[in-house]
Amino acid sequence: MSKRIPPGPKGAPLVGDLFAFMRDKLSYVQNAAKTYGDIVRYRLGPLTVYQLNRPDYIHEVLVGQGEKFQKAKLDGQIFQQFLGNGLLSANGDFHRQQRKLVQPAFHSKRIENYGQVMVDYTAQMVDGWRDGLMLDIHEAMTKLTLFIVSKTLYDADVSASADGIGEAVHTLNAIGGDQYNQGFVFPKWLPISQNRRMAQSVATVDSVIMPIIEGRRKSGEDKGDLLSMLLMAQDEETGIGMSDRQVRDEAVSLFLAGHETTSNALTWTWYLLAQHPEVEAKLHAELDTVLAGRAPTMRDLGNLPYTDMVIKEAMRLYPPAWILNGREALEDVEIGGYFVPKGTTMFMSPYVMHHDPRYFDEADAFKPERWADGLEKRLPRYAYFPFGGGPRVCIGNSFAMMEARLVLAAVAQHYQLSLVPGQNVQLDPLITLRPKGAMMMKVTSRQLPVTSGQLSAVSLEPLAVGD
Ligand code: HEM
Repeated sequence: MSKRIPPGPKGAPLVGDLFAFMRDKLSYVQNAAKTYGDIVRYRLGPLTVYQLNRPDYIHEVLVGQGEKFQKAKLDGQIFQQFLGNGLLSANGDFHRQQRKLVQPAFHSKRIENYGQVMVDYTAQMVDGWRDGLMLDIHEAMTKLTLFIVSKTLYDADVSASADGIGEAVHTLNAIGGDQYNQGFVFPKWLPISQNRRMAQSVATVDSVIMPIIEGRRKSGEDKGDLLSMLLMAQDEETGIGMSDRQVRDEAVSLFLAGHETTSNALTWTWYLLAQHPEVEAKLHAELDTVLAGRAPTMRDLGNLPYTDMVIKEAMRLYPPAWILNGREALEDVEIGGYFVPKGTTMFMSPYVMHHDPRYFDEADAFKPERWADGLEKRLPRYAYFPFGGGPRVCIGNSFAMMEARLVLAAVAQHYQLSLVPGQNVQLDPLITLRPKGAMMMKVTSRQLPVTSGQLSAVSLEPLAVGD
């Protein structure tokens, strides 16, 4: 096996590059790639990190030699605090078994039935919108995606608890981000603020989820949704079902993973559209032509290619999962002729890859048109990977893409959203890539549908992202 060590910064004794990383994570990972190339080695406190910046190296970790890696210890510890042993944090055979159980809820046929719920909840949200209304679009998208995931997967209406859950999820996200920075998780029994806030947030989420689970167990009703599947699942050999604890862990994992990410994808889409009137006009033109004012359905999605490209491009520039930093080598491995010692933490960043000019012309510009003519097929796999890849690829990727397109179409056909001036929108790379603080937008009803004649007059000139 090669003993070649990747290039990288020397870093300070003990802490390595931890402080530089914490100061500005996005710049740090981008600069590491720019300065040192396809594979970079650095230290973050106790962790030795290899950051992979080349699609075929990423493939090796997620797929090629995937069995030699597992979710990293720190990652597992962070997620386990609130997700227990659910899909996101589980490893090995247990993960495979749970994934098999949950997968049918995301079968394409089943997802199709969720379309109506997505559109109905969106209609309900905009029902309260009036011309000139100013709202925090991130908060609005988070509530909407929360309602959608709760209704589709658990047939539950959580609107009464939305504010509490939103706050709890933000706290979990922020503490998780801090714990990545610290490089460790404090023992649970320590009476410190981080532990207290974590426990409170978990209790808030559980206070919503547990009654839903208990109610369904009591009624014994099979509603054919994810919750029924989890409750009825039995081990093929032993016939034993999932414990209440495991059902809770899976339910919370999907509840959390299934709304925050999509909310961020939509929030950044609105942000980009507000700054690119040409793109917005083209989107409106497509929606007006195809939908002519009626609500979108699943069947329309095939006729809305530009809507799809807008979402893809927003997730390229602002991938909600900005880094996959949770893989650890289970044994010594070789990648690209470099030696990866057992225990090394692997970082793979969609944010870095999606801004790499080797794969994307004018990589920082918002240009949905780039996705026309099959760019995705021409790109090397893992140059664009907002949903990860391999056996742990996002289980909700089709669900999320359908939801994002339906919500975008249903809102944009009637409303234009503009950024309230004077805001300094900043990226906040926690576990997910969120805006820092509120993102205030003003709602304007669309008065003049663009005709198909105007569509061809719309400029396709790329514009730089203005942040
Ligand atoms: C735009 C929206 C979304 C994005 C960008 C996203 C991104 C991702 C990524 C990158 C992973 C892989 C993480 C890793 O390998 O370490 C993942 C895993 C996962 N996602 Fe998503 N996700 C989204 C929406 C959803 C939705 C809607 C659901 C469920 C309703 C969901 C449930 C999950 C679960 C359960 C996993 C863990 C899968 C496993 O390890 O087997 N996600 N997601």
